Amino acid sequence: MTGRLDQNTSLRTLHWQGGVDGQLVLIDQTLLPTEFREISCQTVETVWEAIKALRVRGAPAIGVAAAYGVCVGLQTVLGADEAALHRRLNDVVTYLATSRPTAVNLFWALDRMRRKAEALRGKHSPAELARLLLAEAATIEEEDRQTCRELGRHGASLLADGSGVLTHCNAGGLATADYGTALAVIFAACEAGRKVHVYADETRPLLQGARLTAWELKERGIPVTLLCDSMAAQVMREGRVQAVIVGADRIAANGDTANKIGTYGVAILAAHHHIPFYVAAPISTFDFKLPSGAGIPIEHRDSREVTHGFGRQTAPDGIDVYNPAFDVTPAPLIAGFITERGVIRPPFAETLVRLRPES
Ligand code: MRU
Repeated sequence: MTGRLDQNTSLRTLHWQGGVDGQLVLIDQTLLPTEFREISCQTVETVWEAIKALRVRGAPAIGVAAAYGVCVGLQTVLGADEAALHRRLNDVVTYLATSRPTAVNLFWALDRMRRKAEALRGKHSPAELARLLLAEAATIEEEDRQTCRELGRHGASLLADGSGVLTHCNAGGLATADYGTALAVIFAACEAGRKVHVYADETRPLLQGARLTAWELKERGIPVTLLCDSMAAQVMREGRVQAVIVGADRIAANGDTANKIGTYGVAILAAHHHIPFYVAAPISTFDFKLPSGAGIPIEHRDSREVTHGFGRQTAPDGIDVYNPAFDVTPAPLIAGFITERGVIRPPFAETLVRLRPES
């Protein structure tokens, strides 16, 4: 399964098929890299399960899935009155918000759908309201595509010809509607004619780096070397890495950044080796309500992901396990945020304020 994507091909991580009575179609990422299969979600429960089980994952993609999930949820009340539609919308939004806690894009997208419905209240038939909400979800998807392209263009100049770039987890096209965040920077640098070699951490325990990042880069013909997470320090010491670029699930107002577990350790290693550590993320991943990373809710996942990864028992029966899915990298370890509005440098207390939606 190689050569599916050239540099301009859209990945279509997820999309809507049909009209208001249509369905959400998404690549089942739990099957990659050995099987490329799309699944369709026709109930809000299947959307919830797809997010929870990481069939669709990565902060921006979760947001888009949730927005379409609202549209799927409304299908049970398309023939009802407007009050019933608003009641159902509130229930669906509350339900989808319980799928995963850390990526703020989930809550951002649900809030946007709720606000859109409020703005339309009393002005349209239920069928028309459902149609306008579907259009809003499609706009969220399209904006994500544009945002990733802009973000990639802004970040590309950070990578000199011949750079080695280390990344953790998957912040590629699979984690967004298309093109990615951290990987968008690499794609854009390659499109600009620069040679970049990527070192992809495998990313224990669910191997998003090995299964997804390595797959995406290989599909696009970008040189990539897969590393066990524990090898990053050695590879840095050998002088192979000139920049680290990762994605984010939630960024607090002071720049503290939650991302896949292991990111914090990579940031410390980068600081020790004087390698710039960048976070690539859309503005929808910033949570300006939180003053610091201490308030970011961290998802804890099933211990079997650690003891029985991919079907084989690798630890003794009954062993105690700690399995946080994310960690928080303190802002002082971050050289800059690559966003659709440009690269934001320290001092973040002053520079991040400019990204607030109201400013
Ligand atoms: O648990 P996951 O696979 O959803 O975690 C994903 C990450 O940590 C990504 O780095 C982050 O969401 C940014 S995606 C552009």
